[in-house]
Amino acid sequence: MGHSAAVWDYRAATEITKDWNGIDKIVLRNPRGASARVSLSGGQVTSWRNEQGEELLFTSNKVSSKPPKAVRGGIPICFPQFFIWMLAKFRNCGSLEQHGFARNKIWTIDGNPPPLSPNDSQGKSFVDLLLKPSEDLKCWPHSFEFRLRVSLAADGNLTLISRIRNVNGKPFSFSFAYHTYLSVSDISEVRIEGLETLDYLDNLCQKERFTEQGDAITFESEVDRVYLSAPNVVAVLDHERKRTYVVRKEGLPDVAVWNPWEKKSKSMVDLRDSEYKQMLCVNGAAIEKPVTLKPGEEWTGRLEVSVVASTLSSEHFDLQRM
Ligand code: BG6
Repeated sequence: MGHSAAVWDYRAATEITKDWNGIDKIVLRNPRGASARVSLSGGQVTSWRNEQGEELLFTSNKVSSKPPKAVRGGIPICFPQFFIWMLAKFRNCGSLEQHGFARNKIWTIDGNPPPLSPNDSQGKSFVDLLLKPSEDLKCWPHSFEFRLRVSLAADGNLTLISRIRNVNGKPFSFSFAYHTYLSVSDISEVRIEGLETLDYLDNLCQKERFTEQGDAITFESEVDRVYLSAPNVVAVLDHERKRTYVVRKEGLPDVAVWNPWEKKSKSMVDLRDSEYKQMLCVNGAAIEKPVTLKPGEEWTGRLEVSVVASTLSSEHFDLQRM
């Protein structure tokens, strides 16, 4: 692109345009030509491309929903709940939709975000978004501010930092997930490392608790699980593309893993029948133990995704090195 990192103006590398529905989206670029797109609809990252212009996140070609309903793909934000039942005991009113309302709301650009550590700004193009309570949130009447920073680093890494604050309201609890749809060559060729031996809740068996027995997680049918107290680095190896996604998380104890496989895909209005083969959700999350914030308290959940070239397909990924 003819820019050296030394003269790259990261602020100027952030562009605001409108999507086909007239909703603002922010395009982040780095000096090497990588990019990310973030929509004010849901605060959702809808695209993340490497310097070769290859898309790294899955997004369905079948668009059935109109914003502010989340599109199938990218990184929808699940807040203030993941599973419907998880927060039931903390609430005493109304119904809250599956995966919460944040992904279905229109966010604003946060013109005056409180400072983050210099590490979370330097050498990055980023945008700060804000979600505040709206009139229609009667089923979750809490006084919160949700700040989301999405940033793209010089090396192409994508980072999302969520800061949720109780603005002097009554204490409240929530669960949370970055519902990350990774783009994969073929789900049958993919494995996840870092979750072996962990306990998980199986959403296909009434959230019963099991212990993972496999050496790595591979896919040959529908998977819908929440791995509990997972390590902070998990790797997703795509043999065919010789690409490994490294997912690093902080403040997010759990990892939800989902692929709908064939039968469920056919029942989904916003996923083509065979698209399940090209996607895998690996979600940094706080699900099993909801987070509780007292008045004035703030919680931070951070996710960083990077891509490294894999060498031998039979090799295990060296998670200790990361
Ligand atoms: C997963 C859930 O995280 O998201 C699944 O565990 C669910 O049960 C999937 O089907 C998709 O959810 P939604 O609400 O985006 O269709």
